[in-house]
Amino acid sequence: MKIKKVLVSGGAGYIGTHTCIELIAAGFEVVCADNFCNSSPVAMERVEQITGTAIPVHRMDFCRLDEVEALFREEAIDAAIHFAGHKAVGESVAKPLKYYENNLLSLINLCKVMGKGKARNVVFSSSATVYGLSDKLPLTEETPTSAYNPYGRTKLYIEEILKDLHAAEPGWNVSILRYFNPVGAHPSGLIGEDPSDIPNNLMPYISQVAVGRLEKLRIFGNDYDTPDGTGVRDFIHVVDLARGHVAALRKLEEEPGYMVHNLGTGKGCSVLELVHAFERVNGVPIPYEIVGRRPGDVAANYAATDKARRELGWEATHTIEDMVRDTWHWQSENPKGYAED
Ligand code: WQD
Repeated sequence: MKIKKVLVSGGAGYIGTHTCIELIAAGFEVVCADNFCNSSPVAMERVEQITGTAIPVHRMDFCRLDEVEALFREEAIDAAIHFAGHKAVGESVAKPLKYYENNLLSLINLCKVMGKGKARNVVFSSSATVYGLSDKLPLTEETPTSAYNPYGRTKLYIEEILKDLHAAEPGWNVSILRYFNPVGAHPSGLIGEDPSDIPNNLMPYISQVAVGRLEKLRIFGNDYDTPDGTGVRDFIHVVDLARGHVAALRKLEEEPGYMVHNLGTGKGCSVLELVHAFERVNGVPIPYEIVGRRPGDVAANYAATDKARRELGWEATHTIEDMVRDTWHWQSENPKGYAED
């Protein structure tokens, strides 16, 4: 089925905005739906500025079935890329019900409404977190899954819900994309990662230290069995990640079905390597202190990427230097993120 109009749920978010831009560049029509609980309408204004394209933006909550039904009455949607959901690992441990209700119900409502029509193409924003604490690297799409926190379990459960739907009803075409560590920003410096609270993740924490919003970086452990003792991750530029979604939609058009792909670079980079790259490329010091390990962290993970290369014709092209440079371009030009000065 030819896909023309794509719904991007959570489209005003960090990965959503970057994906809207790549979808438009690839010739798709885009509709953004977001409840702005963890994003800003300013981000969508920036996306329109970058693309020169007016994008319909629907402020709505996917947990409200009536709102999802109204959206699909208004927009003739051919495919959905589903980003909408809560994503803070630590918060999910403290408030599991908030995560199960929000993340599962929003997906179920989306599928209930799509199931009433013919267009049943879904790309789901999953995560390498579904691989749990696996120490067999690189992580392939066949690595056994075992989520170890409520956030990760919502990702796993949604993968299973979509697999069951594909098996039960004809016409469901599903692409599961398992992201590794998305970082970086659009080269324009107009959009980027803008956490609503103190950042949990490494790169936004580094950039907020660099811009003076935070005093220093705490590095969670340097006694791991890794080259420099600090954690190793597969950091992937958010523009590469966004382009992976375009490749997945094209695949669903050509070969409908149920598919799972890792989106990573296949290369590991340590915490200290990222800090030093940020300092070297941007000429900005990042004061840090080595503290104890963070519970739940694995020593290392990185992706096997040949399945996405072979089946989607996609691979990451941006370097660590691109990632730290683009991150700093965004943060230095927007010290308070999207917040009005
Ligand atoms: C990376 C490394 C930390 C912060 C998480 C989620 C995963 C996905 C990506 C959504 C680790 C170290 C971090 C800090 C530090 N999110 N670190 N100081 O934990 O690999 O993955 O985000 O899908 O689901 O689990 O990313 O950026 O939090 O940590 O030393 O202030 O940086 O110990 O080694 P993580 P992260």
